[in-house]
Amino acid sequence: MRKLQLLLFFLATIAATCQGLDEVDHGRNYNIYPLRLKSGSGGHHIPGLTCSSWRLGVETHNIIEWITVPEECEGYVGNYMLGHQYREDSEAVTIHAFRYAKSLNLTGDGKDTWVFDIDETTLSNLPYYAKHGFGVNAYNSTSFNEWVNLGVAPALPSSLKLYWKLLNLGIKIVFLTGRPEDQTNITVANLRNVRFTKWEKLILKDSSFSGKTAVVYKSTQRKKLEDEGYRIVGNIGDQWSDILGTNTGNRTFKLPDPMYYLS
Ligand SMILES: *[C@@H]1O[C@H](CO)[C@@H](O)[C@H](O)[C@H]1NC(C)=O
Ligand SMILES: *[C@@H]1O[C@H](CO)[C@@H](O)[C@H](O)[C@H]1NC(C)=O
Ligand SMILES: *[C@@H]1O[C@H](CO)[C@@H](O)[C@H](O)[C@H]1NC(C)=O
Ligand SMILES: *[C@@H]1O[C@H](CO)[C@@H](O)[C@H](O)[C@H]1NC(C)=O
Ligand SMILES: [Mg+2]
Repeated sequence: MRKLQLLLFFLATIAATCQGLDEVDHGRNYNIYPLRLKSGSGGHHIPGLTCSSWRLGVETHNIIEWITVPEECEGYVGNYMLGHQYREDSEAVTIHAFRYAKSLNLTGDGKDTWVFDIDETTLSNLPYYAKHGFGVNAYNSTSFNEWVNLGVAPALPSSLKLYWKLLNLGIKIVFLTGRPEDQTNITVANLRNVRFTKWEKLILKDSSFSGKTAVVYKSTQRKKLEDEGYRIVGNIGDQWSDILGTNTGNRTFKLPDPMYYLS
């Protein structure tokens, strides 16, 4: 059934694309083309298009405070995450992040800093989520922590490239993660194993922040960094809560993540 839906989506996409080009070529009816997007030729609802709108809403922070991925979007999110689009979207972010970093007048005093989030920014939990519904299943801290404690999360390739390029520019790296402090050792081991080998600071969430939102926790830690004299020239994360709040840094970069939402 899902395969059939995907096939229909695929065919509909091709049809829509061809139609779009045709209308551009002839300069006729171009403005009404987007209005037809919602249904197929027979007027059938196409789940894939709804899910792509849902993903756009999530990435732009128009859709917030959601708990799980809509059930009908499991196939869509799975295809997105496992296919080339997730990698290309991530690469687009990190390429622009590096372009920006190169443009900076860095002081060379060792205080220019870039803040990296960890989960879905530095390390990928995709092997876990692929087995747990790509965000459709409710979050299960027990099974998720079991996965984290294996310490085998792969690096996000585009983030790893960005990381090394920033280090080569002389920018210091601070990892700021919502992972609890008792996961410090496994996190260090995991980072090193996948070639994230240097950092100025690695900040995990201590118990004094339990019950506080990620926005509050991360803002507080970034303020502390700035009070210590660090200049946060860049800040990258997969959650809006990584880049909202105070002391967000001179520029923020949002990586894609349609699998979960943390406030
Ligand atoms: C960097 O310094 C140059 C020369 O002082 C200046 O022209 C440029 O605007 C500066 N760039 C930034 C991003 O501050
Ligand atoms: C959460 O994961 C644990 C460990 O895999 C499992 O025993 C438990 O049944 C799960 N809880 C729910 C509500 O699925
Ligand atoms: C973490 O590693 C340090 C040494 O690097 C060790 O002293 C400490 O006991 C370890 N903590 C845990 C919870 O294993
Ligand atoms: C970077 O942000 C700091 C703190 O908000 C600000 O003082 C500084 O002017 C900004 N630097 C640039 C180049 O925009
Ligand atoms: Mg994250």
